Amino acid sequence: KQKLAIFASGTGSNYDAIHEAIQTGELEAELVLLVCDRPQALVIKKAADNGLPVFVFNPRDYSTKADFEAEIVKQLKKAAVEWIILAGYMRLIGTVLLECFEGRIINIHPSLLPAFPGLDAIGQAFDAGVKVSGVTIHYVDAGMDTGQIIAQQAVAIKPNMTRPALQSAIQLVEHELYPRTIQQLLTQGE
Ligand code: GAR
Repeated sequence: KQKLAIFASGTGSNYDAIHEAIQTGELEAELVLLVCDRPQALVIKKAADNGLPVFVFNPRDYSTKADFEAEIVKQLKKAAVEWIILAGYMRLIGTVLLECFEGRIINIHPSLLPAFPGLDAIGQAFDAGVKVSGVTIHYVDAGMDTGQIIAQQAVAIKPNMTRPALQSAIQLVEHELYPRTIQQLLTQGE
């Protein structure tokens, strides 16, 4: 089984979905590490409750991104990580991680990229008044949400839909699409 690390900064609902898919056998992989850049994030407790090793760091304790990424790489190598799964990791990946894990870092983003990259994609789509948004899973490169697209799924924004309702609809799609897409990636070429 291939070894995955999840990087997350927040609530961890995508972490939960991936963990759950591994439990049910829908995703054949091994989760070996959670990397989190926010010591107060909810996802840390979720991982700890599942017995998953967690590497938490505060970027402010390091003088540069290269410094904290070098420490992350050390942790990833120790755990023999093969794939990095970004799940609400709200930080651009730098050259240290990109060079060590080239082509093996994927991200989920709550819009149909290239529309609405960056922060608060759901709010951006809502405010723009578009009738369709959705979810994108893509390889990570040095840009912001610019890497090659792997999978997308549309979500209709119905008349009178509230912003929280749109967020729920998008997250529902994320929790199904992310584990399924990871499974396809891992079994590709087998
Ligand atoms: C998810 O909706 C994910 O697509 C988004 O953050 C949320 C994290 O939720 N990611 C981005 O916006 C990346 N630019 P979660 O912590 O409950 O999984």
